[in-house]
Amino acid sequence: MEIREGQWLPLGELVAKVFGRDRSVYSKEMSRYIPLREYHENEERHVGYREMVEAMRRWISERGEALDVLEVGAGTGLFTKQLESASCTRRVIAIEIDDDCIAMLRSAFEESSKVDCVRGDAVRYDGSRRFDIVCSAFAEHHIRSEDRRDYLGRVRRHLKPDGLFVCGDEFLRPYANKAERRAALDAWHGYVIDQARALGGDGDGLIKIETLAWHSGLVALGFRPNETNLAEGGDYKVSIAEYEQALRDAEFRFERLRLSSEREYRERGSICVYRAWPV
Ligand SMILES: C[S@@+](CC[C@H](N)C(=O)[O-])C[C@H]1O[C@@H](n2cnc3c(N)ncnc32)[C@H](O)[C@@H]1O
Repeated sequence: MEIREGQWLPLGELVAKVFGRDRSVYSKEMSRYIPLREYHENEERHVGYREMVEAMRRWISERGEALDVLEVGAGTGLFTKQLESASCTRRVIAIEIDDDCIAMLRSAFEESSKVDCVRGDAVRYDGSRRFDIVCSAFAEHHIRSEDRRDYLGRVRRHLKPDGLFVCGDEFLRPYANKAERRAALDAWHGYVIDQARALGGDGDGLIKIETLAWHSGLVALGFRPNETNLAEGGDYKVSIAEYEQALRDAEFRFERLRLSSEREYRERGSICVYRAWPV
């Protein structure tokens, strides 16, 4: 696949930086490049997803009983259903910015006495309640770098003083410049696609959505795959070092569980789970 530098993307980024991003683009944040039904039916087979969910559930349940939880970037509800079925949770507010995702979430949880689905922007969210747990699954990499500081500030603001932030996501291997970051993105998505291929026919849907996610990541980096018409990226993965610096800047102390060895992380990246406390 030939990928060339987009000429129009840097201009769009410049406009966004100077005037602030037009946040209406977020109303189709994921659905403009990922078919949601296919995402919902396949994503739990993504390499490492179930392991990540288990670790998140464990860390959440260790926090106590009757927990009030805020989930950000709930998507189609894959992690929300985990929160709903956990005996340690009392109330779950699931925030999602994408109109089509929120429609799916509302129909999935309309009968639920535990889960409320709210259309909202996690970067701007300003609720009056404080939570025992704020959490996100596979959603940190949807937050743009320029928004990460505000986003983590909102996470912090919505935690009770003894509250806990728990998130699981994919992280790129280390990079020192744009070319290395591009190579890191290719290495990670290549690995995930190879793992999906190993599932045989069961991996076909996953290969399709992972390829779309990869292309959106390339667009976010300023490259344009021939196959895409995306004007904006959607996948803003960073390295462990970059993410952890953002956590420190937002005054969190944290513990990380990396699902791969150091060697594997340096080759291809890794899924990690974090638990973080406001200092
Ligand atoms: C890859 S999906 C993950 C969905 C789900 N948590 C899961 O485990 O499958 C990331 C979700 O984050 C949402 N998202 C991105 N930016 C957001 C924001 N600023 N506020 C709320 N949701 C956001 C996207 O619309 C998308 O549905």
